[in-house]
Amino acid sequence: MSITRDLDPDLFRHAMTCFASGVTAITTQESGIPSGLIATSVCSLSADPATILVCINKNASSHDVILRTKSFAVNLLSADQASVAKRFISSSGTDRFDPGQWRDGTTGAPTLIDSVVAFDCSLIAVHDGFTHTIVVGKIEGVTVNEDVAADCLLWHRHGFAHSSLRAS
Ligand SMILES: Cc1cc2nc3c(=O)[nH]c(=O)nc-3n(C[C@H](O)[C@H](O)[C@H](O)COP(=O)(O)O)c2cc1C
Repeated sequence: MSITRDLDPDLFRHAMTCFASGVTAITTQESGIPSGLIATSVCSLSADPATILVCINKNASSHDVILRTKSFAVNLLSADQASVAKRFISSSGTDRFDPGQWRDGTTGAPTLIDSVVAFDCSLIAVHDGFTHTIVVGKIEGVTVNEDVAADCLLWHRHGFAHSSLRAS
């Protein structure tokens, strides 16, 4: 691969998939209807106040819902929850949610039972990010699964991987 000034978007996407990223389900709920998407562009912003950011495609069906509800949850999937990610990818709307796997967070956003981490967030800022909106959430609640077996699900080189392979 060569370095180019006018980077081909497909080359950019290919290069980015070399990063191993935690797979999250970003969720919200409006008038009792859950919606969400799978996202890897999640990043901690600050610890005080505790804030997190997510880059959400403006064309995603949940994009405008999150901006309206001003709340969302960031659910880091465990290695055992690839089926949750596949369900989100292969379906749409409320079909993405198996009712038995979710409970409402304090903001109303659905949080995934047995996820590695679930952040319940209120939206405090948005920034334009070209095709995406950079959504900043203040963390109103967090659930950390202390089960040592709860490795997270990764997306790496166009496929799912686990976080259990640690460098020495
Ligand atoms: C592994 C993976 C990571 C993704 N990361 C993001 C992301 O960070 N932000 C985003 O907007 N879409 C991301 N997507 C794409 C959305 O999940 C997908 O476009 C979503 O289905 C669009 O929402 P809609 O079908 O409800 O319109 C990712 C998809 C996959 C498979």
